[in-house]
Amino acid sequence: MEEQVVTMPRIGEKAPEFKAITTQGEINFPADYKGSWVILFSHPADFTPVCTSEFITFASMEKQFNEANCKLVGLSVDGLYSHIAWLRTIKEKIEYRGMKNVEVTFPLIEDITMDVATKYGMMMPGESNTKAVRAVFFIDPKGIIRTIIYYPLSLGRNFEELYRVVIALQAADEFGVATPADWRPGDDVIVPTAGTCGVAKERMEKQDDNMKCCDWFFCTKKLDKDTVLKKILKK
Ligand code: BEZ
Repeated sequence: MEEQVVTMPRIGEKAPEFKAITTQGEINFPADYKGSWVILFSHPADFTPVCTSEFITFASMEKQFNEANCKLVGLSVDGLYSHIAWLRTIKEKIEYRGMKNVEVTFPLIEDITMDVATKYGMMMPGESNTKAVRAVFFIDPKGIIRTIIYYPLSLGRNFEELYRVVIALQAADEFGVATPADWRPGDDVIVPTAGTCGVAKERMEKQDDNMKCCDWFFCTKKLDKDTVLKKILKK
């Protein structure tokens, strides 16, 4: 029997290109998103409850993501008319955590052929042969994949975490730092480890109120919330 080779895009690689029909017209991905961050995410199926709660939450936060120069693009292996009917039902009938009459205005890709889902490694046969898992690709303004998160069918995503990832990636780029566990804007950041022993030692000796080193490999510095958000959020 011929072995099937499954390829999946990886962090640091160019986002695979595709053209697709969406609820907002045709898109040429990622070229149409050049200059913006974009989250490409898949959901298992239209007219399912967990996905519905996710779409209501994501659509309610769309403005917040857009202000961080980040656009949203959804995908499932359903057809366009299913997408349109489901989004209309969400707007007209569904209330979740006080959010209602929610209009989803970001594009939702139809992918009945599973071409895009396969290209992006969103199909995981151990979980389902017919539905994409909940994949999230964070792609930067140059079209490079910067973070990938996968969730199984039964687990709804945490959208505050997705927003935190967008801000943390941009903060790392803008300020040349890394962000430690559970980092949020306003928390101290990690100063990247110095390449040579001498530089690390020199840095330890230069500690001041702003920078603190516990050892040569663990230095943090202050980065205040306003400085981070002013740089990242569009006014
Ligand atoms: C849901 O979104 O509710 C769902 C979708 C596929 C499998 C299980 C749950």
